[in-house]
Amino acid sequence: MEYPLLQVLEERGGAARPRDIYGEIAERLNLDPDVRSEKKTCSDQDYAVFDQQVRWTRQTLVAKQLVAGERGIWELTDKGREKLTRIDRGKVVLIYSLDNGLAFLAHAEEAAGAIEPASISLIMTSPPYPVVNREYGRFTVPEWLDWMSGLVGLWRDLLREDGTLAVNVMDVFQPGTPSLSPYVERFTLDAIDRHGLHLAGRMNWHNPSKLGAIEWAVKRRVTPRNTLEHILLLSKTPNPAWDTRRMPCEPYAERSASQIASDARRANARRPGGYDINEAAFARRGEGRIPSNLIVSGGVGGGGTYARRCRVAGFSLHPARFPEEVPRRVIQLTTAPGETVYDPMAGSNTTGKVALDLGRRFISSEPVLEYVQGSAFRFDQRSDFRAHPMSS
Ligand SMILES: C[S@@+](CC[C@H](N)C(=O)[O-])C[C@H]1O[C@@H](n2cnc3c(N)ncnc32)[C@H](O)[C@@H]1O
Repeated sequence: MEYPLLQVLEERGGAARPRDIYGEIAERLNLDPDVRSEKKTCSDQDYAVFDQQVRWTRQTLVAKQLVAGERGIWELTDKGREKLTRIDRGKVVLIYSLDNGLAFLAHAEEAAGAIEPASISLIMTSPPYPVVNREYGRFTVPEWLDWMSGLVGLWRDLLREDGTLAVNVMDVFQPGTPSLSPYVERFTLDAIDRHGLHLAGRMNWHNPSKLGAIEWAVKRRVTPRNTLEHILLLSKTPNPAWDTRRMPCEPYAERSASQIASDARRANARRPGGYDINEAAFARRGEGRIPSNLIVSGGVGGGGTYARRCRVAGFSLHPARFPEEVPRRVIQLTTAPGETVYDPMAGSNTTGKVALDLGRRFISSEPVLEYVQGSAFRFDQRSDFRAHPMSS
């Protein structure tokens, strides 16, 4: 929460009254409105849980000398402003590199110009999500769709003919209702209709601990908990260069003797669709089930070395990282070793780290300096790591 609090103060000209900014911080964190309004009682007094967390974060920032001011007005210090450095529009700066990796400080709009056209096998990214009603300074759904459509046009040109664009998007709810905004569908159709891409497939990321909309799923019990995020897989050709043999197989389910006997009977029967499937179709070859398009993974957990090193260096942890399993499965499916993966909105560069672990090359871009610098902790113990001075 530290970084969003600093950002909101900066947008307010450097100082604000706490009660004016709680809502904006919640928006930046994509916080469920119900979590935002959760109350607890202590000594017969109600207090807002989220607001109290924000006040604690401010306390931490004061201790780090990033925020100053009396309790009634919170102010950014010079050190706090420095921490918010974002690259100017129009600039692309290489911050670190490896033999097989390049990390740029840049907005995605400009980073695209620094990358060789038709050179990328996979563009994998998780953009900031839109908000459904405009109360604060972030993207509404129509603005988001417009912005992303422009980027898809740029990214299309960077992809090889057999390449894939993978975009991780999360459902957002229509205000005050349990209905979903159809922005995911609109984005998909725009990529197909305007940019000529194909919907090669979808993966779903199931996060068992995700709360979804508390009001509708938990309090009123009218919808199931929405634990899924989508990974839309768009491609230039209808037959992108995918291969499921690069993904680990899934374990076979335990089967009883009667299920095995029933498989044998099915193998000998003609299928209703007219297909003649022989016994070999049901045989287990030992390696496991063909991988599915469901990724099951909880949140990012402790964050390992990245989180530990960020804490030691006093850097904010990226608040919206995805777990490594998400890019891992997509990279394995859509790229071969040695090919290049680009994450244009790289945050803490989870995608780059996984790409390198899997023997691929990576390019990343991210406009927030502190996130790019923090992401270097994922790589700087390697002998081929090179930090590049900002002026170069
Ligand atoms: C959901 S986060 C990505 C997190 C990343 N997948 C990870 O695991 O760390 C989205 C990122 O997009 C960045 N961003 C916002 N606007 C951008 C732009 N115009 N170009 C590139 N990145 C942008 C934000 O700073 C943020 O770090």
